[in-house]
Amino acid sequence: MGERETWTTRIGFVLAAIGSAVGLGNVWRFPFQTSANGGAAFLIVYLFAVLVIGLPALLAEFVVGRRANTSAIGAFRALGRPAWWVVGATGVFAAFWTLSYYSVIGGWVARYVAGSATGTALAAPEAYFGAVSAGLPAVGAHAVFVLITVGIVALGIEDGIELATTVMVPSIVALLIGLAAFAATLPGASEGYAFFLTPDFGTLAANAVTVLPDAFGQALFSLSLGFGVMITYASYLGADDSLPVDGLTIAVANTFVGVLAGLVVLPLLFAQGVPAGEGGPGAVFVAIPTALAALPGGGLLGRIVGIVFFGVVFIAALSSAISLLEAAVAYLVDSYDLERAPTAVGLGAVVFALGVPSALDTAWLDWFDGIAVTLLLPVAVLSLVTFVGWVLGRDAIAEFRTGSGVAALAPAWLWVLRTVVLLVVVVVVALNLHDLFLTPETGYYVVPEPLR
Ligand code: PHE
Repeated sequence: MGERETWTTRIGFVLAAIGSAVGLGNVWRFPFQTSANGGAAFLIVYLFAVLVIGLPALLAEFVVGRRANTSAIGAFRALGRPAWWVVGATGVFAAFWTLSYYSVIGGWVARYVAGSATGTALAAPEAYFGAVSAGLPAVGAHAVFVLITVGIVALGIEDGIELATTVMVPSIVALLIGLAAFAATLPGASEGYAFFLTPDFGTLAANAVTVLPDAFGQALFSLSLGFGVMITYASYLGADDSLPVDGLTIAVANTFVGVLAGLVVLPLLFAQGVPAGEGGPGAVFVAIPTALAALPGGGLLGRIVGIVFFGVVFIAALSSAISLLEAAVAYLVDSYDLERAPTAVGLGAVVFALGVPSALDTAWLDWFDGIAVTLLLPVAVLSLVTFVGWVLGRDAIAEFRTGSGVAALAPAWLWVLRTVVLLVVVVVVALNLHDLFLTPETGYYVVPEPLR
């Protein structure tokens, strides 16, 4: 087996991890979730979730990956705890599963860039979404998205993922800042900001039972936790990086992009009086083009803003998709000594096939998403936190301290991980399982809706 690759620079790793974290979750789900759940009040809960739950869990993945120096499944053997490989396997399976429908949405977004350019997406938003979101054209767009993802991953860590994300992540931020500046000039801007950022503790309190686990779930998903992705990325790290500093940078950048996206989306919707409402997948894809179509300038301005906006969403989705594929590719490459490029192509073919139902019918997509985010993800995070907090113990502290400027924080981190984080994740898992299996509305969710 050849020399294992590493990131060329520390900033290369940080940007790749930010690229993974910043995805559909931030630029598309987060603004709507925030505004529907109490604005700034929700934001406070979310920030708490990111810093107190997300960041320690992120560091747990970094510790496992860098210490083991191998992919998320092999890592547990490398750490001398082979029986725990199931934790990594659950994660990598979840990554694979998630990529199957994530790339279907990526395909929609690509179609929206084109539809903004030609103007068809703006002319009849509902009809356009109907045409794009399901059926053979959606299968085609899904195939293209998978193909691009495979292409980048096949090129490897340095020449593929690091190079791509070094270009993509700064572009996302720059374009979003440009869009936010533009959105600030719209007539509905202040109303949009108010809706997005006014703390409404009443709404938050009234819905606390659903909102709190949601906020925690969103924080975990948004930081790409549980899927073995951050373990895999950290496995390409050298010993001189400070894990806590890098982790904090990634968590802050990820939240910043979500807020920035809100500053773009909400003024846009308010300026045109489009109800922001609850954002299911479809709602955003209809609401945004509707708002764009109403911009002044005879449609041209709307088309340009549409290209840039959906372009940003596309780049964000792609930089997350490559990390999902990498988790699985790294496993096969590391553990079975396979060639990277053919492995990426082979796994891409399987991901494509697995995503076909989601591309044909959005009910399947919802089901895949529900299983991934409410079942696989919390269970994977729970087992990982248990492992690092209670099994790895001393080794985890040692790894946290390696290269760290804030070595003294290591025991506090481990303590938070094994108590607060573990407790919160247990509650999230319990609530989710209850929802999935026991409530009349959503019970038997495990049976896919199209088959019920
Ligand atoms: N964090 C990504 C998002 O917010 C999704 C993701 C999850 C990517 C897990 C990789 C691993 O869209």
